[in-house]
Amino acid sequence: MRNLDEETITQAVLARNVDMKDRRLKEVMTSLIQHVHAFAREVRLTEEEWAAGIQFLTDVGHTCNPCRQEFILLSDTLGLSTLVTAQNHRKPQGCTEATVFGPFYVDDAPEYELGADVGNGMTGEPCYVSGQVRSITGEAVPGARLEVWQADAEGFYDVQDPERTCAQGRGTLHADDSGHFRFKSIVAECYPIPHDGPVGRMLEAMGRHPWRPAHLHFMISAPGYETLVTHVFRDGDKYLDTDAVFGVRSSLVADWVRHEAGKTPDGGESDIPYYTLNYDFVLNPGRPIHANR
Ligand code: BEZ
Ligand code: FE
Repeated sequence: MRNLDEETITQAVLARNVDMKDRRLKEVMTSLIQHVHAFAREVRLTEEEWAAGIQFLTDVGHTCNPCRQEFILLSDTLGLSTLVTAQNHRKPQGCTEATVFGPFYVDDAPEYELGADVGNGMTGEPCYVSGQVRSITGEAVPGARLEVWQADAEGFYDVQDPERTCAQGRGTLHADDSGHFRFKSIVAECYPIPHDGPVGRMLEAMGRHPWRPAHLHFMISAPGYETLVTHVFRDGDKYLDTDAVFGVRSSLVADWVRHEAGKTPDGGESDIPYYTLNYDFVLNPGRPIHANR
């Protein structure tokens, strides 16, 4: 094929897909080529802009390391992660909604007994978290596995510190026989996503802030149920309606109740004010595995 021009290039590229054996790959690549070409036509992409785009993606790649996943930040800030989550986790009314996974999960978080302090020395005000895991039909999900993770009071996850010596603000617990769980941690605060790299520069150029409203991450799994990846957001946070990664759902916003110093839910005593969060999760029967597990 020769002498391709503005009119004929797209069909010529698509024609090369004929021998692709993998039907799903063919479907995805055909659509990708069509949309990328349509985009370039629609905005009349200049050569300078094309080169800047290539440089941007190169910078995104170079910014990735074991502690930093800039491509996930890019997907999140463009709303792609929320779109993919939404279309893959349609659920019956009443199930807890899923939201973005984010880049700060690790799959070997320490196991804790119910009631343990998963903050593990992390800076922040104490918070006692409790709730129940149920199925859509109302019965308890005994032994449900809960993986939780959160940022410290300064807005950093433990994995962002390459010199960390232990896990902080993350852990794995198992609900009891009645599906109940409880643990201690710190109260979540709003924080900016990492914005000292190409995605941060993109947000600035677009006139957008990098902040996420305060939240606590959960991944909840149990045999016979769709794995739930979600957050609980803190009511009253000023970024609930402008989350940098478009993850907020009204059903996931909860009251984090402040208490004066005194008796705590674990039967102890706190000489400083503390918070409590009570939130129940409702699982959808079905596929047990999440793509990230
Ligand atoms: C997070 O909540 O951990 C997160 C999600 C998306 C981008 C950055 C951070
Ligand atoms: Fe987070």
